[in-house]
Amino acid sequence: MNPLVELLKFYKDIGVEYMKPLNIKTKVEEFEKLKKEVENCKKCELYKGRTNPVFGEGSINAEIMFVGEAPGRDEDIQGRPFVGRAGRLLRELLGEVGIDVKSVYIANCLKCRPPMNRDPLPEELISCFGYLKKQIEIIEPKVIATLGRYSTYELTNQKGALGTLRGRVFDYRGIKVIPLYHPAYLLRNPKAIDIFLDDLKKVKAISEQ
Ligand code: URA
Ligand code: SF4
Repeated sequence: MNPLVELLKFYKDIGVEYMKPLNIKTKVEEFEKLKKEVENCKKCELYKGRTNPVFGEGSINAEIMFVGEAPGRDEDIQGRPFVGRAGRLLRELLGEVGIDVKSVYIANCLKCRPPMNRDPLPEELISCFGYLKKQIEIIEPKVIATLGRYSTYELTNQKGALGTLRGRVFDYRGIKVIPLYHPAYLLRNPKAIDIFLDDLKKVKAISEQ
């Protein structure tokens, strides 16, 4: 008999009727714990100006993860990622290629809003990176789409122009990473939307492999 079946039979014989799915439970618990850590985080100065931290949202079992830059005004108010103008465009374009927004996970490099939406500082990115790293470890997505240059740099180590990096496949600890234009860039350059949609289709295809 298969050793695993034999072991389960042994448990049944001694009266065990139910075994809880251990790693699913711990995954959710670990995620909740991490979220609480972010809520209390003061590792960089940005905690002072936040209305709400923006941990991220979506499915903990996501095959696709999107990583943006930092919360803006609307995200800071609502405590949710990508809910302002750029976010609405992102969500609309996901729908266009048939990616269900509820099946993915959306996070940012920084969990707190930089004042006046200024660019993230290197020390802020370093302070916050541990949270993103753990989110990725827990979710274990098949593919990560980095939105814009900050998340692209964090996960691919590439500092080049996004125009030359986008759509290429990189590796982060065995997970495929595809850089995409940031949706805020698309608002300013609508001509790039078609390229973004092609890149999204690539992300979707890889997630289904
Ligand atoms: N831009 C980002 O990079 N992230 C958000 O959550 C919203 C806008
Ligand atoms: Fe902490 Fe990140 Fe917020 Fe800085 S941005 S306070 S490191 S959660």
